[in-house]
Amino acid sequence: MDKQINVHITGTGHAVPENILTNDDLSRIVDTNDEWITTRTGIKQRHIAEPHQKNSDFASAACLQAMADANCAPEEIDFIFMGTVTGDLIFPSTACRVQENIGAVNATAMDLSAACAGWIFGISVATACLRMGQGRKALVVGSEVLSRMMNWEDRSTCVLFGDGAGAVVLEVKDEEGGVLGIATHTDGRRIEMLNCPKGGTADPVTPEILAAKENKIHMKGNDVFKYAVRSMAGACREVLDQAQLTLDDIDLFIPHQANTRIISALASRLNVSEDKLLVNIQEYGNTSAASVPIGLNEARRSGRIKPGDHVLVAAFGGGFAWGAALFRF
Ligand code: COA
Repeated sequence: MDKQINVHITGTGHAVPENILTNDDLSRIVDTNDEWITTRTGIKQRHIAEPHQKNSDFASAACLQAMADANCAPEEIDFIFMGTVTGDLIFPSTACRVQENIGAVNATAMDLSAACAGWIFGISVATACLRMGQGRKALVVGSEVLSRMMNWEDRSTCVLFGDGAGAVVLEVKDEEGGVLGIATHTDGRRIEMLNCPKGGTADPVTPEILAAKENKIHMKGNDVFKYAVRSMAGACREVLDQAQLTLDDIDLFIPHQANTRIISALASRLNVSEDKLLVNIQEYGNTSAASVPIGLNEARRSGRIKPGDHVLVAAFGGGFAWGAALFRF
């Protein structure tokens, strides 16, 4: 059998809006309070884009940081895969705007729509393209401005989400390690549990749709909760099997930051101890496709990931779409 091409994360970056919305701020907008939000979700604040800021601004900033970290020039980038469901425009891909912003003139750029799992789906596609020999370096960015999709009168959803972007440079290297396993899944029977029901081409925006806020995020929170835990746990076991490793081999677990109760339930199902678990939801809320790469960048910058460490990541979102990936740094 041919020797497998090794694909490593060689740089990470993230960017979030400076503007912060605290739980107390929210309690002045909808009927909620800091105590409810903190105990039910773990979220204390979220970063929210100002009206002049765009998804591509944060994605580009995160990519530039990741490229600087990887010591990589923009011309060297062969692919930009962007996980997002809140692109600047309906089309073309926001990744094309990022390409322009960062000067990655030789890249092929495209968006991937897999909601909160978008970055992991991007890692899957990028790894496949690099292993096929189609290029040597890829940017994989998860970036969202979900604040623009919120119904700010619906307290069951508007307290949960935040804006931001996280990016990595994936690179073909001779050394062993890098991406050791990837699992991706979708279940299209569950679309109604988490979506923007109208405002697409099936039901183009009308004054009635706007008035009913049917073009904003709708979610059956309790159902999502159950599926999220079960599905992410399954995907984590899959990638561990692919790499022939066990949870004892994992140095850090970065789950999607949707809710501390989901994170705790997942960690206890997998028997991951707290010292191996990254939780930053208190600061950012649920940033969808950006949540795992933001966590990854914070962990690397703070020295929590060391050379040789095994890092497991997992995410779950609308579709349903979910997945996991396993890296050796
Ligand atoms: N502030 C105060 N009360 C709120 C509230 C808020 N922001 N949001 C909902 N409530 C109320 C509800 O109206 C309900 O009141 P009632 O009992 O009088 O009807 C009560 O709190 C309990 O609501 P419930 O929906 O059962 O709460 P919960 O414990 O399931 O928590 C979520 C709700 C959304 C936090 C939780 O279901 C969740 O996190 N689900 C996963 C969602 C998610 O992460 N999705 C993204 C995945 S990518």
